[in-house]
Amino acid sequence: MATLTFLGHSCWTIFDGAHTILIDPFLTGNDLAAAKPESFTRLDAIIVTHGHGDHIGDTAQIAKATGALIVSNFEIANYFGAKGLSSHPMHIGGGRQFDFGHVKLTIAHHGSSGPEGEYLGNPAGVVITMGGKKIYHAGDTGLFLDMKLIGEMYGPLDAALLPVGDNFTMGIDDAVKAVEFLKPKVAAPMHYKTFPPIDVDPNEFVAKVRAAGGRAERVDPGKTLEV
Ligand code: NI
Ligand code: MN
Repeated sequence: MATLTFLGHSCWTIFDGAHTILIDPFLTGNDLAAAKPESFTRLDAIIVTHGHGDHIGDTAQIAKATGALIVSNFEIANYFGAKGLSSHPMHIGGGRQFDFGHVKLTIAHHGSSGPEGEYLGNPAGVVITMGGKKIYHAGDTGLFLDMKLIGEMYGPLDAALLPVGDNFTMGIDDAVKAVEFLKPKVAAPMHYKTFPPIDVDPNEFVAKVRAAGGRAERVDPGKTLEV
């Protein structure tokens, strides 16, 4: 069992009954966020998909307060390591078993510059196995055919968390195609409404996935999805 809680934008927690991880904690500066950086007391890890401010977000503050291990690509792990925070470097194609679960980094077609324009490696998606469930968080990305590989070889996926906001990432129709490639048991939209260029209707994504025979659920900020 795994409980996925959406905290706005691309930020989720995953709780398996014993461990909790946080992904892409962009809370400060996001009016739609359903948590504050100081909300977290116990966290095993923070996974950061890429260097953009709306994904790195409050990682440093939360990691400092909770002692959570930051898991990200080599460049981002070193960036936080240089700030005295506990981090573990990985890279695309690599997987590792941690105490809280298994993490595998996958490709994402996007950028990954840091808050000050630093080079922070390649952006990634991530397949996380916790509580016996496999969850794919796509990070920020355009549609790519290798999603079929992720669905077939790293799956079957219990959930796929997909950006749908267009402009910076896949829009709705591409994300519907991503669901077709990934074949998850359920897909949930993210990376929409936060900024004017990504103000799309997540219900359109849900309706189109269902019309194509898949399962999708809109998870509002602060709400959960059980997989
Ligand atoms: Ni980005
Ligand atoms: Mn983004």
